[in-house]
Amino acid sequence: MTTTTRRGVLRAAIAAGAVGAGGLAAADTVALRSESSHQDQEAAHLRGPAPLPYAQVIALDFIGGGTRAGGSLRTAHHVVEAVDGGNVAAWLAMGESMLPSSVAGPRHLKQMPTFPGDVLDHTQSHGDLLLQITGTSPHVVQDAAEHALRELPLWRVRWRLDGVRPENRTEDSRGLARNPFHFTEGYGNPDTPAGVAKRVTITRDQGEPSWAVGGSYQVIRVIRLATDFWDRDTVHEQERIVGRGRDGQWLDGTPGTEQPVFAADPQGKTTPLDSHVRRAAPDRRNPPPLVRRGYNYRHSDDDQGLIFSCFQRNLEQGFEAVQHRLQGEAMAKYTLTVGGGYFFVPPPGDGWINALASR
Ligand code: HEM
Repeated sequence: MTTTTRRGVLRAAIAAGAVGAGGLAAADTVALRSESSHQDQEAAHLRGPAPLPYAQVIALDFIGGGTRAGGSLRTAHHVVEAVDGGNVAAWLAMGESMLPSSVAGPRHLKQMPTFPGDVLDHTQSHGDLLLQITGTSPHVVQDAAEHALRELPLWRVRWRLDGVRPENRTEDSRGLARNPFHFTEGYGNPDTPAGVAKRVTITRDQGEPSWAVGGSYQVIRVIRLATDFWDRDTVHEQERIVGRGRDGQWLDGTPGTEQPVFAADPQGKTTPLDSHVRRAAPDRRNPPPLVRRGYNYRHSDDDQGLIFSCFQRNLEQGFEAVQHRLQGEAMAKYTLTVGGGYFFVPPPGDGWINALASR
């Protein structure tokens, strides 16, 4: 089914008033829900300074056809609520194809474009719905994912990736982990929950519809990394490509949690101008308004990389502005983006689904 047709189906379902009555029929899901320590108003995608160390990222397509589409979105919302809590943090996010045209916004939501250098594999890209299940062990993640998928027979898995955050830890209230290039990631994120919320959470003054306030845009990029090729470089060369040491320290000796003065190095002698951090965040007083909470994936020695994931309140000022600046960075020859998508994480609670259902 094409995106357009699916969108049409959902629109028709909503117009016909079919959205709203849906919900969980299966008794075991209802039981699981009442047992779970579901945290109603807390945003699962931002829970804790560090994301939980294991994840499954599952993109789903709606295959129900006819009048069940809207009700199925409500069902998916309840299924995710049911598995969320305790050792699991789970959330859903909608692709552009899942929103009826009668609903205004989210303003920036669209299908992820192909950026220069991307080789998008359509079996690993886009999707009507994103289900992200994170947890304290691979086992709890797998159990929650299987449970959720059993409850969603009208959705087909489009793509699914396992993720892990090696050396997952918190330092100065920032979540850090080691990526497949052996570098620590997370220093560029804010060090307080208020700082995270400011970059990520949609507020009333943004011109977004009221049902979307409190939500966030999530970008996933499946980035294959040429680790063999990378490992042939010296650590010194790698650090000049990233613009930080493997453990986060700046190349001019500034501690990783403080800000370097790039203006004192206009030619990029210490921190090259085409290094990742210099391209990503050239103005140290105005950091890019996004928060990264990614995972590593590994299919084999030859096929591993990042499930890059970031959240922002404005897609153009967040991910897209940084992505454009990264064109031509020194790291580009070691990376290949093969998948991902743009999604919208609705605000906590039921308000958004009730609002969509009433259109
Ligand atoms: C291609 C694979 C990538 C790798 C291996 C990678 C790795 C890193 C590393 C090691 C850092 C420094 C530590 C930190 O601040 O977390 C970093 C920083 C950063 N990266 Fe990436 N990254 C990748 C892709 C991306 C993409 C696609 C974006 C967004 C479009 C991005 C945006 C950023 C930002 C905003 C920072 C923080 C810069 C700062 O505030 O100093 N990265 N990345």
